[in-house]
Amino acid sequence: MAILLALTVATSRISEERGFRLIRFENVGLRYDMGPEVLRDLTFEIRRQSFQFLTGPSGAGKTSLLRMLFLALRPTRGLITVLGRDVATLSRKDLPSIRRRIGVVFQDFRLLDHMTTYENVALPLRVRGKEEREYRQDVVDLIKWVGLGERMNALPIVLSGGEKQRAAIARALIDQPDVLLADEPTGNVDAPLARRLLRLFMEAQPVRHRRGHRHPRSRPHGTGGCAPADSFGRTTGNL
Ligand SMILES: Nc1ncnc2c1ncn2[C@@H]1O[C@H](COP(=O)(O)OP(=O)(O)O)[C@@H](O)[C@H]1O
Ligand SMILES: [Mg+2]
Repeated sequence: MAILLALTVATSRISEERGFRLIRFENVGLRYDMGPEVLRDLTFEIRRQSFQFLTGPSGAGKTSLLRMLFLALRPTRGLITVLGRDVATLSRKDLPSIRRRIGVVFQDFRLLDHMTTYENVALPLRVRGKEEREYRQDVVDLIKWVGLGERMNALPIVLSGGEKQRAAIARALIDQPDVLLADEPTGNVDAPLARRLLRLFMEAQPVRHRRGHRHPRSRPHGTGGCAPADSFGRTTGNL
């Protein structure tokens, strides 16, 4: 899995990246309707097991770029390859199977109000026609792992912003995506919680990779024992 977080910050840090190429942008440009080009000449790759920060001021185009990454928006020029497929050639029926491999944490979470944490996190699997007995334990384990074990049966309305954020992270991870995207995951929380969330994202990757099975199990986040974040590539891209 690769992880890309879009963050509105001003710093830039470049380090190495490694692994198989999951997504490639080549001279991509985007404009909305007849407006000016909001993104231009974007060329970059997202490789497996990389951890990337996408930074830029408000209005720079971070959300637009994420929307292209999860195939909600097509570029007005250039080439985007996602999981080896040129997105320009994808038909509507190809989209769900590719989107399923990309987990997204939306800025506004997009949890369904009438569903509990458990039901929201399980939803991608249910939609896909999986039987509850196949996934119940995975869902429970993942919810515990993001630290929401006590909130398993709570509706979104009673969750704090940070709790909703973690529920959204669990939902994005439950179907074992190849890429995890998060739009401003630390935008609406205080600094200590932002640090905890970043740590959660950093742990999401090595835990799954190292343990070699479907999901991190029954280990509340923040209890340590993970490989340090620098053991996988981190890159920052600036818009
Ligand atoms: N649906 C849209 N229609 C027209 N313009 C848009 C739309 N969404 C975003 N924009 C414009 O694209 C630019 C980049 O916006 P956005 O991707 O939301 O930036 P960021 O997420 O970095 O704040 C802004 O100028 C914004 O007004
Ligand atoms: Mg945005």
